[in-house]
Amino acid sequence: MMSCTVIVGTQFGDEGKGKVVDYYGRDADIVVRYNGGANAGHTVVVGDERFAFRILPSGVLRQEKTVVIGNGVVIDPNLVLSEIEELRQRGVTPAKIYISDRTHVVMPYHKALDGIEEKFKGSLRAGTTKRGIGPCYSDKVARFGIRVCDLLDETVLQAKLDAFLPIKERVFTAYGEEVKLTKEKLKETCLEHGAKLAPYVTDTIKFLHEALLRKKRILLEGAQGTHLDIDYGIYPFGTSSNAVSGGACTGSGIPPTRIGRVIGVVKAYTSRVGEGPFPTEREGKIGEYLREKGGEYGTVTGRPRRCGWLDMVMVNYSLRVNGVSSIALTKLDVLSGLEEVKVGVAYEHHGDEVKDFPANMRVLSECQPKYETLEGWEEVSKQEWLRFVEQGYEALPQACRQFIEYIEGVAGVPVHLISVGPERALTLRRDE
Ligand code: GDP
Ligand code: IMO
Ligand code: MG
Repeated sequence: MMSCTVIVGTQFGDEGKGKVVDYYGRDADIVVRYNGGANAGHTVVVGDERFAFRILPSGVLRQEKTVVIGNGVVIDPNLVLSEIEELRQRGVTPAKIYISDRTHVVMPYHKALDGIEEKFKGSLRAGTTKRGIGPCYSDKVARFGIRVCDLLDETVLQAKLDAFLPIKERVFTAYGEEVKLTKEKLKETCLEHGAKLAPYVTDTIKFLHEALLRKKRILLEGAQGTHLDIDYGIYPFGTSSNAVSGGACTGSGIPPTRIGRVIGVVKAYTSRVGEGPFPTEREGKIGEYLREKGGEYGTVTGRPRRCGWLDMVMVNYSLRVNGVSSIALTKLDVLSGLEEVKVGVAYEHHGDEVKDFPANMRVLSECQPKYETLEGWEEVSKQEWLRFVEQGYEALPQACRQFIEYIEGVAGVPVHLISVGPERALTLRRDE
């Protein structure tokens, strides 16, 4: 039986999922995004060209593939349409783009509310991307949502706007904000979006199940990371969707029995954009070094990312929750040139050793990481990396291999993919 592969972030997002999806996309017929929305920024570098996808699956650059925006995603119609248009202008015409008719739509009032809610949350704000993600998923769960299929049905749309807009206006008033929502204008915009999206909208669940019957190979692309997940992340500092591998099923309609492989993307260090506890964060020299060398600035917002050492307490929790069967270790090149490299292996909390990731945000913020210090390796040029990739794993500097094998030992999961630069060629496969 053909099975599907899930690619999932194991940290705070920005682990390099876009590159890893593009890489494994070689062997897939269909790539499906299953969660999140325009809060994501997935970068793929091909030759001299750099693409940063927000809503479209990263598999879209392999032009013979079909890409699917699953029902677990929330879409901003303007953004999807402009992403498709931009690709066309850059000469990329994918075989097919399908958008689930069940996908929820980010409305203009969601974006406005995102900013207001953050303001009111004060020190409990997540530092969101202000793309309306939280309010849109809140409406989905509270059953106030507008779905893509509604944009194609004036009667349903009218009924929903009639019922929901007065409530939204009251919410704004309660926040002390005067926001007038013009129903007619909003309806017109929604119908316009519906007409423009119509060629892409389909029953993606039916499509994916027929594809399974035809033995098509399906790759499921997660956005964000496990520690931003609504259930498993550091609450309330994460996002509002299920980024974990379980979300791949609910966000696409592919049943758990068809998932055969879960690839966990682990960045060789940790980065975080936004607020909340981050035990291995290093604000001084090493944090700065990782940020500059790793180019750790938000793809979506341009914000500098907070940086620190790899945290295996975090990662091990993610490996469990996602059922990760193989690790894709990214940005290993960023660590070269350091005399020593640290890996967080446990926390200390008021004298007790903690190895299980705590739920309580206060406890977590009081945790002090305990590090294992490993020997670093010399700076490696891009040419040298390319040579190592060609020659295979054994060609890597010894201390670099020791770092990889140390992670495997602590994780109990094999590292099958090693990424040493943004480009496709800077990727070393260990299981082939
Ligand atoms: P995503 O959200 O998980 O897809 O990750 P982002 O695209 O937001 O951030 C990852 C950044 O690192 C992008 O700029 C990638 O081009 C870049 N990148 C990916 N893999 C590597 C790598 O192995 N080494 C280096 N130096 N950069 C990488
Ligand atoms: P990718 O897919 C990194 C963070 C935001 C904020 C919190 C909630 O590129 O890895 P939201 O706008 O979702 O309500 O913000 O989550 N965040 C991300 N951080 N990578 C992402 O996506 C993120 N998506 C959301 O910074 O702290
Ligand atoms: Mg990103």
